[in-house]
Amino acid sequence: VRPRETSGGGRWRWVPRAIRRSLEARARDLEMMVRQLRGAIPDPVVRSGVRPPRVAGGARPDAAPRRLLEITAVARETPDSVVLHLRDPAGGSVEHRPGEFLTLCVEVGGREVRRAYSICTPPGDPRGIAVGIKRVPGGLVSNHLNDTAEAGQRVAVLGPSGSFVVTPAAEASRTYLLIAGGSGITPMMAIVGAVLEGEADSRLVLLYGNRRADAVMFREALGQLAQDHPGRLVVRHVLEEPDDLLEHGLGRLDAETLGRELDALGVADGPDVEWLICGPEGMMRSVRAALEGRGVPRARLREERFQSPGERIARVTAPQEVEVRSGADRVRFRVAPGLTVLEAGLAAGAPLPFSCTLGGCGACRVRLVEGDVHLDEPHCLSAEELAAGMVLTCVGRPASPVVLEVAS
Ligand SMILES: Cc1cc2nc3c(=O)[nH]c(=O)nc-3n(C[C@H](O)[C@H](O)[C@H](O)COP(=O)(O)OP(=O)(O)OC[C@H]3O[C@@H](n4cnc5c(N)ncnc54)[C@H](O)[C@@H]3O)c2cc1C
Ligand code: FES
Repeated sequence: VRPRETSGGGRWRWVPRAIRRSLEARARDLEMMVRQLRGAIPDPVVRSGVRPPRVAGGARPDAAPRRLLEITAVARETPDSVVLHLRDPAGGSVEHRPGEFLTLCVEVGGREVRRAYSICTPPGDPRGIAVGIKRVPGGLVSNHLNDTAEAGQRVAVLGPSGSFVVTPAAEASRTYLLIAGGSGITPMMAIVGAVLEGEADSRLVLLYGNRRADAVMFREALGQLAQDHPGRLVVRHVLEEPDDLLEHGLGRLDAETLGRELDALGVADGPDVEWLICGPEGMMRSVRAALEGRGVPRARLREERFQSPGERIARVTAPQEVEVRSGADRVRFRVAPGLTVLEAGLAAGAPLPFSCTLGGCGACRVRLVEGDVHLDEPHCLSAEELAAGMVLTCVGRPASPVVLEVAS
């Protein structure tokens, strides 16, 4: 759309669509800020019992836009999980890369909470996109969605985002070693579909751990995919409790079980092997240790942690002093245990940019000048950005006195 001047002179009569969208996104961010000021703030801060931050920063124009998607169908995948099929009600497509997640902004008990859910359908799937949500005992959003999600409802989302992605290349010939536990199967479903479709010479081996057979998500779909692609996809279920109906390995996906399963499958590491791991933290720790014990370098393991905000808050550290530099300005504040740099910084009036507050959009990226900052996983920084000393304040927790520089 070309801008025109009105007879009043100097005013835009038609606003280009990109700018209009950006303004709409900004309006929604402002609405969110007002809600924050009223106390309806994102869940992590509420739960930590900390006063809502004063709003000092703001979304940059390039911050991740929010959009509304409509739930077109709700499929009960297992007694403890649902799959929500989503579409853009305006008819647009939702582009994503295999392995990415959406951040769902859900209203529970009158306040908005945000949780990440991996897209479980591959790009280009004729069924559109879907997310699979498994109940977490005592969990706020997973139970809410399992209990109340219905076709026709609309849900605000951020993203897709994430770095746990694969990029199929038609000429590549690789082996993908996928190790999933529980709901950690969701990004693997998208990856499996995309590789089967886009890399004809590659094969996939999926080791999938669950407690019981009735907790296995996508059991039928996986069986069908393996049957349709003999020799290209091997699915091996590992259950903690025996079950007559499912051919499987037995045990927790710990070092011993994993070693046994990999030996039985004849899997060995090599330059063309891609290791991808996703599941509960405990399982991932054991898998990492087991693979390192088998000589797979840590740098070659790609992981997605399904950590919840509640669990992050439980990891308390000592308070630390932080200085934020922006041009000639200096703002100093203290970050209490359980808070991120962004939460404490906004409360102190530091000029910190932000948008998604979940590590997914990069809007809060700053440069680490001095000190140590631990980043919650997952986050969207690339290896190059990390090497260049960039950190995200929304998922960053200082582990020492820290100096940060905001790009001016
Ligand atoms: C990148 C990413 C992708 C994900 N993809 C998926 C997916 O595809 N499917 C899926 O099912 N899940 C996925 N998750 C997990 C999901 O985002 C949620 O974390 C999960 O659904 C739990 O949210 P909840 O609100 O139900 O639980 P929460 O309310 O966050 O609680 C989680 C647990 O923490 C405990 N807890 C809560 N607050 C505290 C506190 N202050 N101190 C101590 N403990 C506390 C709760 O009792 C509960 O046991 C993903 C997570 C990430 C980061
Ligand atoms: S605000 Fe989006 S990554 Fe930090």
